[in-house]
This record gives sequence, structure tokens and C-alpha cells, in this order.
Amino acid sequence: MVEAAARAVGLVKTYGRGDTEVKALDGVDVEFGRNEFTAIMGPSGSGKSTLMHVMAGLDSSTSGSTFIGETDLSGLGDKELTALRRDRLGFIFQSFNLVPTLTASENITLPTNIAGKRVDQGWFEEVTNRLGLSQRLDHRPAELSGGQQQRVACARALVSRPELIFGDEPTGNLDSNASREVLDILRTAVDKDGQTVVIVTHDARAASYADRVVFLRDGNIVDEMRDPDMDAILRVMAGMEG
Ligand SMILES: Nc1ncnc2c1ncn2[C@@H]1O[C@H](COP(=O)(O)OP(=O)(O)O)[C@@H](O)[C@H]1O
Ligand SMILES: [Mg+2]
Repeated sequence: MVEAAARAVGLVKTYGRGDTEVKALDGVDVEFGRNEFTAIMGPSGSGKSTLMHVMAGLDSSTSGSTFIGETDLSGLGDKELTALRRDRLGFIFQSFNLVPTLTASENITLPTNIAGKRVDQGWFEEVTNRLGLSQRLDHRPAELSGGQQQRVACARALVSRPELIFGDEPTGNLDSNASREVLDILRTAVDKDGQTVVIVTHDARAASYADRVVFLRDGNIVDEMRDPDMDAILRVMAGMEG
């Protein structure tokens, strides 16, 4: 077993109370191996986004524990949690969370600057080139298309080279070329830079870039697969929806 970059133990998350209570996570035990690329799949409403948000310390759990490396997130105060997210994690979420008053370039380097790290200029250029952003770096988010904003959000997560990158549908709004670039870069981050990547995706092609696919249903992990190929992923997905 590879050492875990992140793990959840007996993770439960309920929303609402009484009649309207929804159990989004129903006691999930999962480990994401260090230096591995994991994809999380499952039907809509199965708890994928909730799992990712809670494991990334962006939302609290109802019970159970989550760890980033050996750090138990429940033992951290707000300030320590913010520092851990800033220093060790990168995020690519569906709402891109770009700062509207900053240019694309400033948005991309923001986490690195806030962490007081130096921006690796060569890496910045490679990432923004490969994502087709070179001509858009001086534009503000409102002047960019949805796909361009998503690529900026990807570049922002990649440029600071965090230990662990979490992505919720990171290729959701992208055409197939941009999607392939994002997935190739994430794959390289794992293979060459020793990073760990965990993404949620609906797309079997995207998931086939992963070392491992974990399948969620009704807030539980119901299946998993190593070295997945597209056909095998599609078969499991079809079985889950049936
Ligand atoms: N903020 C919220 N308040 C109430 N229910 C929520 C909230 N977020 C998610 N849920 C519910 O929790 C379940 C899991 O949601 P989610 O994690 O977003 O699933 P997925 O990402 O797999 O589509 C769904 O039933 C959803 O309606
Ligand atoms: Mg979701």
C-alpha cells in the first residue's frame, strides 16, 4: 500500500434535520495514495463533491475523521486549517473562485504569492502555454469565457505545485483539446513532480488518466478499480445506474 496523502475514516456528513435530513456521506473509509492520481465517480447526488470538500477542509463533517498526510483536520483551528490549505493543497472547483479584480496572471500566481513562495517562471509559462492562456494573461475573469476561466483555475492550482491537488469536475466546461491538456498536466504532476491528484469526474475518458477510480453511490464507496481503461469504467458506471 502506498502511503496515504489524504484519508477519511468513518466519514459521515448529513445536511438538514428531521424530515429534510440528507445523508450525503454514510461512513466513508478511503485513502488517497501519495503520488497517485485518483478519480472519484458516481451518479449525481452520490456525495462526490461533499467528500472532496470535507476532505479538503472546506466543509466540516458530522462525524468521522479526515487526514491530510498525518494531520487530523479535526484537531486544527480555523487559522491552522487555512494555513494547511494554503501551504499544501491546490483546488480546481466548479465555481472557479477567481478574484474578479485581478488579471488571469495575478489570479494564477495568487496562492504562490500568499504562501510567500517564489513563482517558478518557466513552469508558469509552460502551464499557461499548454492551457492556451498566453494571450489572455492580462484579462480579468469577466473578459474570459467559461472555459478560459476554468483553465485559469487549473493553472492556479498547478503553478504553486501543491503536495495535493483536489479537482471537482476540473474538465467539466472544457473542449476535448483543453481537457486533454489539463489531464496531461495533472498526470505529469503525479509522474514527474511527485504530486498527488484527486478529481471528481463524470467523464470515463478523464477517469482513464487515473491510477485508480473510486465509485461512490448513496454516500458509500461501492467499487474501485486500478489502472482503469475506459471500457471497464463505462461498464461499472452502467451497472451503477441500472
Ligand atoms: N448544502 C447542502 N444542503 C443540503 N443538501 C445538500 C447540500 N449539498 C449537497 N446536498 C445533498 O447531498 C447529497 C450529495 O451531494 P453532492 O456531494 O453534491 O453529490 P455529487 O457531487 O455526487 O453530485 C445530495 O443529495 C445533495 O442534494
Ligand atoms: Mg458534485
